[in-house]
Amino acid sequence: MKAFTRAAEMQTASLGLRSGGKSIGFVPTMGALHEGHLSLVRRARQENEVTVTSVFVNPAQFGPTEDYRKYPREPARDAQLLEREGVDFLFAPPVEEMYPPNFQTYATVEKVSAPLEGQFRPGHFRGVATVVLKLFNIIQPHRAYFGRKDAQQCVVIRRMVRELNLPVEIVVCPIVREPDGLALSSRNYYLNGEERRAARVLYRSLCRARELVEKGERRTEAIVREIRQLIEREPHARLDYVAVVHADTLEPVGRVAGATLIPLAVWIGRARLIDNLLIEESGSGLGFHL
Ligand code: PAJ
Repeated sequence: MKAFTRAAEMQTASLGLRSGGKSIGFVPTMGALHEGHLSLVRRARQENEVTVTSVFVNPAQFGPTEDYRKYPREPARDAQLLEREGVDFLFAPPVEEMYPPNFQTYATVEKVSAPLEGQFRPGHFRGVATVVLKLFNIIQPHRAYFGRKDAQQCVVIRRMVRELNLPVEIVVCPIVREPDGLALSSRNYYLNGEERRAARVLYRSLCRARELVEKGERRTEAIVREIRQLIEREPHARLDYVAVVHADTLEPVGRVAGATLIPLAVWIGRARLIDNLLIEESGSGLGFHL
């Protein structure tokens, strides 16, 4: 594996690979890598001749009171894991390389960035879209891999790619979970033993929502009420939001029909965790992705 910290060097290497006809698969991350990240790396390796991973804790996507400084950083371990997975290039720039002094150009994807995470983390998706656009320009990937755990992030990036005519295919991959259902997340490192047990309430409440829909419940109101109750009954948990929205527009819907997303965000101790249930409707009925 070859590691780069300079954007120009990474870009030169990528342009060389592209003109040599190699397909490039790209996995952007903020490091503290776990099996969720590695599942994206494996998929990228299967589908491309060259795999590039970035590790960059992006200050632009953290609010002033958020965990940017405390965010786990384990560069040596990350590099070792990526090497073991057969990644060809690691791009891990210092902050000044991505945001030099007087930086002032941002990408904003308007409507789909506003609700859900956007409401509780103003400016978050402006930071995400900006860094992902920069990384795409530096790495020049044919395909880029994202996890459905961050469902709204996938919607924002897909829309940016479409509306700015970026020549990259976005591949959305399934959520990787612990045996008890908790979605893997670098923020799970913040949980102590008791909180770790309490964190199961996210998956449990989404399973309950799936069960309700399987039994014929379609009303948003009833589904949301049930999830709220489960979270309220868990002493370590505090709900930021739960919603039933259209999976592509993220607009609220009154009933489950067609492609529907049920995302939620819950504080467990000092960790803010997110998860979601995707429901798809096809000729053969409803399909659930959890
Ligand atoms: P990060 O939180 O490090 O996540 C990197 C990628 O891994 C994202 O696409 C995320 O959805 C995916 N991922 C995280 N946990 C996962 C899980 N349990 N199962 C499947 N995929 C999972 O998301 C970011 O970084 C940043 O916003 C980034 C896109 C890198 C821009 O800074």
